[in-house]
Order: sequence, then structure tokens, then C-alpha cells
Amino acid sequence: TQAEKGGYKHFMLKEIHEQPRAIEDTLRGRVDLNNADVVAAEIGMTDEVAKNLGRVYFVACGTSAHAAMAGRYWVEQLARVPSTLEIGSEVRYRDPVFMPNDLVVAVSQSGETLDTLAAVKAAKAAGAHIISVANVVDSAIPRVSDGVLYTHAGPEIGVASTKCFTTQLAALLMLAVYLGRRRGTLKPEDARRVLDALWHVPAQMREVLAKAEDVKNIAKKHLRAHDMLFLGRGTQFPVALEGALKLKEISYIHAEGYAAGEMKHGPIALIDEDMPVVVVCPRDNQYEKTLSNMQEVKAREGQVIGICTENDADVKRLCTGNAGGTPRSGRGNWAADAPDAIEIPVAENEVLPLLTVVPLQLLAYYMADLKGTDVDQPRNLAKTVTVE
Ligand code: AGP
Repeated sequence: TQAEKGGYKHFMLKEIHEQPRAIEDTLRGRVDLNNADVVAAEIGMTDEVAKNLGRVYFVACGTSAHAAMAGRYWVEQLARVPSTLEIGSEVRYRDPVFMPNDLVVAVSQSGETLDTLAAVKAAKAAGAHIISVANVVDSAIPRVSDGVLYTHAGPEIGVASTKCFTTQLAALLMLAVYLGRRRGTLKPEDARRVLDALWHVPAQMREVLAKAEDVKNIAKKHLRAHDMLFLGRGTQFPVALEGALKLKEISYIHAEGYAAGEMKHGPIALIDEDMPVVVVCPRDNQYEKTLSNMQEVKAREGQVIGICTENDADVKRLCTGNAGGTPRSGRGNWAADAPDAIEIPVAENEVLPLLTVVPLQLLAYYMADLKGTDVDQPRNLAKTVTVE
């Protein structure tokens, strides 16, 4: 009902705006800046187990798998353990090889996704240590795990996951710091840098959410698109995948998320003046390379939409001129003034995905709402997939 939506038109929009609060709840009591450590006895792992891990094996589906992909990158970077990610449905029938010194991290909002649960059970039977990152307390996956990090995002009603994604990111980044500290791969000053950045995310997210109207204007401009491409590198690759999934789920516009470096290996052939390409290009250590991908899209007359760090004149320049309106696309005469770019605040590399995904959630939301789809209950989708 209207009251439950807290004045927002849809639950999804409410949940997008709840993210700063949700992340505060995920971090509360767990970030110890004085000791540059993560306090989480609920992980249920001795320091000895953490030190002797052979591999971290992430398993999840859908949006949770995108969060897990970022988790995988962080665990490799900060805790220096070989890590892998498999989607639940693929683990299940493949007779996967699990080892007793594997840490299996199952990521699931509901804690009830059947394929993820089945994978966890297989890992458990092989003697692996299992941690779940879940939102629904005491659900099936946490119940079979050795430890659990709850995201504390509160109930998520919209079928398209938003606040559960960013709180999963926060929990997984904490897990990577926790492992890095115990394995001696992450110096206290580096742990403190990451945790301090994480602590500032809610306030920075509020700054991004304040730009919702700008995102809406971009959505209006590209409403006629039939296909969209989302590109990102490093931890922005899962963000690109998530941006594409959100758009598909609720607006029914076909979208693909791609690693920016893979563009030349195929999808570049799709680019023409009718193809909006969202490039997630904050100033991180992959920036120059992603910027050059943007230039390549522009050179093929693609419509570049950028997510960038504030005051990035180079990205913004590449995001102008989308307004012309070509005979083929029939786009209107949009004023060619504002670039199709959304700026995010300056932040440490590790926390950037928590900020860059917000404009993509809003973009999907506004494109769907302007098209008039049923945003909270998109056709054919169930919130939790408890069947095969
Ligand atoms: C997210 O927008 C989706 N509706 C879907 O991909 C979801 O993330 C997936 O089904 C996994 O669910 P879980 O996190 O509850 O396991």
C-alpha cells in the first residue's frame, strides 16, 4: 500500500533511497577503525582456518552473483587467496571438486534460492567451510552454513534487488578485510583506509541519490532504445552486469553487461548511433583504459552515457552530443547542453562499486517507470527462485 511505500511511487524506488541507511546497518558494530579490523565472530572461523585457506569459492545467482563477483576481486586483492565464482545452477550438476581447505561463500538475499542451497550442501558434504551472506535471518542457506554475515538491509519487496546488492557488497568487502588481516596480507594502515572509506559510503551515496532527477532526464532521452550495452573493468565489471540486469528485469529493454576489455572481441560490432552505451568509468586504477573504450564507442557514433568521478571533463565531453536526434532513431530535439554523465564523489577504489551502481539502479527504474511497466512485479519474475 501507499503508506508502506513511504511516499515513494514504488517499493523499488523506496529501497534505492534506503540504501545509505541499510549500509549503515550492515556496518554497525562490525567496523573497528581503532584496530583496523572487522569484528564478526558470526563468521564462525578460527584464525587458523583463515590462514590456511586454499581457495575461496563464491556461489550465488542473479544479482547476488554480481555482488559475489566483486567479492571475489576483493578477496584476491586484499587476502591474496585464489578465488572463483560459480553460479548456483552450474555448480549443481557438474560434480564440482570441493576441498576441505576451501572457504565457500554463498551469497543470497532470501537465503532460500534452491540452486545456491544445493551447491552449499554439496560443498558441505566435501568438508568445506561455509559462510553465507544473507538478508533473511534464519533462512535455509544460513542454517546449513558454518558462519553467516547478515546484511541487515530490512525486507526487500521489489523483485529487482537494489539495497540487498549494495549491502552484500559492504558485507563482502568486510569479509575480504577480515581475511586479509588474519592472513597477514593486508597491513593495518591499508585495512584502515578501506574501512574508513566504507564508513563514508552512506554519506556519499546520499550525494549520488540527490542526482536522481539528472538520471531521470537521461532516461527520458534514451527511452526509445531497443538495446543497451553496459561496460566496466575490474570491480566495475560486476557493476556493468548489474546495471544491465536491472534494466532487463524491469524495463524489458534488452541489455548486455560486458567487461570493457572484451568490447573489441565482439560487441563493438553492435555499436551505431542508435545504441546507448553506459560506461562505468570512475577514476580508479583502470581509468585510462576504460576511457579509451569510451572514445572507441564515441568514434562509432554510439551514444555514450558515463558514470564518472566528479569534475571529470574528459568523460563528460564524451557524453555530449547524444541529443541530436537522427532520422533513424527519431529522437526529439533534446537540448544538447547537459552531458549524459552522472558524477560520483571521490572515493577509494575498493568502495567505488557501491557508489557507481546507484545511478544504474535509478536509470533502470526511470526507464521502466517512464515506459509504464510494473516496476515492483515485473512479468515472469519471482522474488525468490525455490524451484529448478
Ligand atoms: C535480482 O534483481 C533478481 N530478481 C534475481 O537475480 C536475484 O538476485 C536472484 O534470484 C538471487 O536471489 P537470492 O539473492 O535471494 O538468492
